[in-house]
This record gives sequence, structure tokens and C-alpha cells, in this order.
Amino acid sequence: MSQKTYRVIQWATGTVGTVALKHFIANPVFELVGVYVTNPDKVGKDAGQLTDRPATGVLATDSVDAILALEADCVHFSPLLPDVDTVCALLRSGKNVVSPLGPVYSNDICSGDVEKIEAACREGSASFHGSGIHPGFVGDILPLTLTRLSDRIDCIEVSEIADKQKTPSVYIDFMGFGQTPDELLAKPNCMTGAMHAFAQSIALLVEGLGKTIENLTETHEIATANSDIPYPGGTIRRGTVAGQHWEWTAWADGKPLVVYHLYYRVGDDMEPAWHLGDSRHHIVVHGSPSFEVTLQATKDADGHRPFLGITWTALLGCTTIPQVCDAGPGFVTHIDLGVVQPRGLIR
Ligand SMILES: NC(=O)c1ccc[n+]([C@@H]2O[C@H](COP(=O)([O-])OP(=O)(O)OC[C@H]3O[C@@H](n4cnc5c(N)ncnc54)[C@H](OP(=O)(O)O)[C@@H]3O)[C@@H](O)[C@H]2O)c1
Repeated sequence: MSQKTYRVIQWATGTVGTVALKHFIANPVFELVGVYVTNPDKVGKDAGQLTDRPATGVLATDSVDAILALEADCVHFSPLLPDVDTVCALLRSGKNVVSPLGPVYSNDICSGDVEKIEAACREGSASFHGSGIHPGFVGDILPLTLTRLSDRIDCIEVSEIADKQKTPSVYIDFMGFGQTPDELLAKPNCMTGAMHAFAQSIALLVEGLGKTIENLTETHEIATANSDIPYPGGTIRRGTVAGQHWEWTAWADGKPLVVYHLYYRVGDDMEPAWHLGDSRHHIVVHGSPSFEVTLQATKDADGHRPFLGITWTALLGCTTIPQVCDAGPGFVTHIDLGVVQPRGLIR
């Protein structure tokens, strides 16, 4: 087993980036060599200070050129918004890139980006891997792996159920929570067109089963708050959007083959009452035999199960880095990686 260490850069220190940064500091397989930030208050601060850890000697910078000039094996690229041109510049500078912003798998919507990334990989002799919990794991490589337990498959359902009251983020605003249903439906937000990002994961699963997607369909349900719902950072007012359910169905041979459900909510007091229970990921394989798998946090001291989607998104990226760095240059999917063998977790 390789004892190699990997020189890493953390790009952006939001919720995902901070989890990754803590992992890079703690895991001896990684040597943190750079941190890129946009927030002027963070520039010049030690990575340890940004993560409540002892000083590391690595100071955050807002200079893209300084990051490009660093010698590093990999950049964990987790800013708020996609930026394929910057990803390509990092790849051309010879750094591998792992990113929760994808793309995770080439399809008709993202193939242009994948081609640009592949060209930059060739130029820089580097690799790119799109990571994350969903899209990136729970709706693609995890169910694809589980299908080995099947004799016959009729349909696979994958649900992400997240209570944003317990794990608030900028996404409460970005997804239009707290608006009236009419306001939400009148203007696009970050979930407009999200089906096409998740369609990459669906394609990986469907094509992994030897089929092609004939058609993708979407439904979107809204639940409104029965009372004011406070959360750390704000309040969802009575009558405004407190819950949203997206359902994306991939059809093959005229039947639904893969169905994704995303249930995002702030608290529970809403109409309709979906009675969702704890935050979790849930996979149901309908067929012979039919079976289900639930992925959720163990209960904390208060008896709650926190939503681990953000933590897992960061760790799924971090744990693939050694293999992505060791892979031949190019756009590397789960199929190319095979069984990922994380390094440095036993410590
Ligand atoms: N695939 C998946 O399963 C999955 C799951 C969760 C998230 N994600 C993706 O991962 C990315 C990071 O998510 P996150 O939860 O870490 O987001 P976040 O907490 O909002 O952090 C994003 C960071 O990006 C930087 N940034 C750059 N431009 C910004 C702008 N205009 N406004 C605000 N911040 C800006 C900031 O970094 P500094 O503070 O360092 O300046 C900010 O902290 C997002 O694109 C998200 O969609 C993917």
C-alpha cells in the first residue's frame, strides 16, 4: 500500500470546503499547501484559524495566480458557483482537480464542459473527478453497487431527505424557501434546471445497467408553513414555502427505471404534512428481491440525526484524491476509479 503523501489545495472555505480543510489538516496522507478564499476577512488567515485548529503555516489567499503557481498534486475545488474555466486553468497548471460541483458523468447537457475539461487534462497531464453525495454517490455508484444483490430490477428509487432547520445554509434562500409559492414559481433559482445536473448521476446508473434514458420527467410539489418557523439565521413566515419535493424520473423501455426524490424542508409544521422523519438518504431497489438501504447519521445527544450531506460531500471528494492523482490523465468517473481505497482514515 502506497505511503505517498499528496500536496493539496482547498479552494473556498464554505461549509463543504471547511470540512475538507479540517480533513486535510488531520489526515497525514495529505500535506496542505494552499487555501483559496474570496472573503476579504479570511485573506491572510492561517488555515488552522479558519477551522478552529492549531496554526498550519498555510495562509489563505485570494490570488488565483498564487494558487496556480503552487506545486500541488490536487485542488479540492468547492466554491459556490461552477467555474469550468478556472477548473481548466488549474488542470493546465498540472494539478488534479476533485470537485463537488461536477460534472460527475458526461451527458448531452454537460458534454461541452467535459470536453473542455478533457482537453485541459491532456495539456496539464492531470485528472478531474466530479464528487459529492448527490449528485455523485448516493444516486449513482452506491445503487449501482447495490444492484449486484439483485436477480432482476424493476425500478430504483433514491431519496434525499434534508431538514434545513437543523442544518441551515445559504441554500434556504437560494432554493426560494420563505417566498410565497407564486414568488417561487415566478423566478428561477438554483434548483431551476437542477434535474439536468442530477441527470448525470441517473445516466451513470442507467448506463451502468446497460440501458439508456429515453425520457426524463420532473414534478415539483410545494408545502407552506402553518406557522412561523424559526431557524438559525432567519424565519420562514406562515404561508410561505417551507418544504419542496422534486421528483425526477428516468424512463427506459417505456417504464420508470430510476426515480429520484429530493425532499428539502425547514422544520415540520407545513401543509401538506409529508411526515418525513429524520434527515437521511434512502435507496429502494424494486425487483427480485426488493430491498432498501438507509444512510443516516447516528443519533446525537439530543436524539436528532443531523443531515450529513455536506460532511459526506466533502469527505467523498477527499477520500478519492489519492486515486484520482494516481490515475492516468483525463476525466475520471466512478466507473474509471473502480473500488476507491481511501488512505489515512485509520489513525
Ligand atoms: N454534489 C453534491 O452532493 C453537493 C452537495 C453539497 C454542495 N455541493 C456544491 O458544493 C459547492 C459548495 O457548497 P457549500 O455548501 O460549501 O457552499 P457555501 O457554504 O455557500 O460556500 C461557498 C464558498 O464559495 C465562496 N464563494 C465564491 N463566490 C461566492 C459568492 N458569490 N457568494 C458566496 N460565496 C462565494 C466562498 O468561499 P470563502 O468563504 O472561502 O471566500 C463561500 O464560502 C456548491 O456549489 C454546492 O452546490 C455539492
